[in-house]
Amino acid sequence: MPEHQPRIDAAVRQALQRHADVEGSLMPVLQAVQAELGYVPQQAVAAVAQALNLSRAEVHGFLSFFEDLRDAPPARARLQICRAEACQALGARALEAFACAQLGIAMGEQSADGRIALEAVYCLGNCACAPSVRLGDEVYGRVTPQGLQELLAVISGSSP
Ligand code: FES
Repeated sequence: MPEHQPRIDAAVRQALQRHADVEGSLMPVLQAVQAELGYVPQQAVAAVAQALNLSRAEVHGFLSFFEDLRDAPPARARLQICRAEACQALGARALEAFACAQLGIAMGEQSADGRIALEAVYCLGNCACAPSVRLGDEVYGRVTPQGLQELLAVISGSSP
């Protein structure tokens, strides 16, 4: 759901009041907007660009360069699949392919309904039980495609 303009305006105004005067203010301003709204909406990009005397393209470029900054609301669930050595050796790539096919997205993307983001990670500290995935705060080991399908079903069935 798109953010309401008054809320965006307030977030941008606050961020600019706190950070606009410091050198290299674009990052702290965008971080502050994201901390308030969960992401940096298009309307905020325009307002920040104008306030800092930058083009929208410059702000967009900055936003897409830094992984920690988001231009879309975060997914409600994050499914992380381990890509480190032990998990790779025991089928993590097949799990990735399975998850991507099931969700119709690539690693690093989120589903169109905003329910789930698919992310690669490099070791979840569960190497003895590879391949491992994390859903929310929970780490699962010895995950098979069938087990992954069950996790995806839980997410799909979760209430919005
Ligand atoms: S290598 Fe995957 S959990 Fe450590």
